Amino acid sequence: METLTKIPLTVVLIFLVILVGNSKICPLQVVESCNVNDKEALLEFKRVIQFDVWQYPGAWAPDTDCCTTWEGISCDPVTGRVVEIRMSGFPDDYYGVDTFFAMGGTLSPFLGNLTYLRVLDLRFGLFNGPIPPDLSGPVPNSLGKLSQLEYIYLDHNELSGAIPTCIGKLSALQMLYLHHNRLTGPIPFSIGRLVDLQMIDLGHNQLTGVLPSSIGNLTQIKSIILENNMITGNLPQSIGYLNELRDVLFSNNKFIGPIPPSFGNLSLLKRLLLSKNMLSGDIPSNVLNLKNLEVFNVSTNQLTGKIPPHKSSFPASAFSQNLGLCDAPLPPCNWL
Ligand SMILES: *[C@@H]1O[C@H](CO)[C@@H](O)[C@H](O)[C@H]1NC(C)=O
Ligand SMILES: *[C@@H]1O[C@H](CO)[C@@H](O)[C@H](O)[C@H]1NC(C)=O
Ligand SMILES: *[C@@H]1O[C@H](CO)[C@@H](O)[C@H](O)[C@H]1NC(C)=O
Ligand SMILES: *[C@@H]1O[C@H](CO)[C@@H](O)[C@H](O)[C@H]1NC(C)=O
Repeated sequence: METLTKIPLTVVLIFLVILVGNSKICPLQVVESCNVNDKEALLEFKRVIQFDVWQYPGAWAPDTDCCTTWEGISCDPVTGRVVEIRMSGFPDDYYGVDTFFAMGGTLSPFLGNLTYLRVLDLRFGLFNGPIPPDLSGPVPNSLGKLSQLEYIYLDHNELSGAIPTCIGKLSALQMLYLHHNRLTGPIPFSIGRLVDLQMIDLGHNQLTGVLPSSIGNLTQIKSIILENNMITGNLPQSIGYLNELRDVLFSNNKFIGPIPPSFGNLSLLKRLLLSKNMLSGDIPSNVLNLKNLEVFNVSTNQLTGKIPPHKSSFPASAFSQNLGLCDAPLPPCNWL
């Protein structure tokens, strides 16, 4: 009797071991698609969101699938990992998003656990309510772990503190929008490692320090927007190596020294805005005569000398308020 009861028990145990082992190799279809680490990170993100006007993260239920039922979240259909957080506060006709979000709070460091994330879109500036809620506090260092991240849209918030140095680890980054925040400190030298970057907008912050020469490594970059900060030092001549550049918008900073003649290499450049700085020296002729240059402004600097002859009809206001610029469209030089 004893052996008879023991044998079926052993068989049942072996059967169970095989069953458990198999389910690891070939998981059952009922497994939910949201990865548990991703879900934990998103719930931590939600935990530090204080205002959430339409209850989007607010409605994320822990017992539901984050990939299929959570507003603003997209997963990769193959891996089931979270690849997008899109909760832009911008209306759809402007940026093509179909939901109008608004929220305030801070950015959880747990966002750095979403290792498959490609898009982080949390900009809330155009909310029309009585007190626009915004994200505040620092940009977490842990974002430097997101090696797949291609798009960071965190503009129009109240983020403060420095741009983390580890941003240089985001080797897939193409768009970096941090404009209209309260960021301070310098632009990290490590920015030069983001060799796929197409567009960087850090305008309307309180950034200081110099613009690192490593910017000259960003060979894919089309726009560098730094307007309305307190960035000082020389304009790096290495910018002149960036063949894809269309926009250099540096108005209202504290740049000093000359306009580098190397800028005359930027054959696709359309907009060069340098007004309200402390630039000195003369205007290089090859820069003013760039074939595709449509918008140019060097007013309110300390530039001197004869404005080189040029074909474009830039108005006098593009050259006004300098130390000693002369000739068309300004009055002729009388020291000849
Ligand atoms: C998730 O992020 C938090 C905050 O950065 C960190 O303390 C924790 O170790 C991370 N967990 C994993 C599994 O990486
Ligand atoms: C920029 O590129 C040069 C040469 O390709 C390299 O030596 C340098 O380390 C790069 N700078 C940064 C900040 O990555
Ligand atoms: C850029 O311009 C400078 C000065 O005009 C010139 O010496 C240099 O060879 C140019 N570099 C490239 C890569 O075109
Ligand atoms: C150039 O910039 C100055 C100062 O911001 C502004 O007053 C002027 O209208 C601008 N001119 C052009 C042509 O953009």
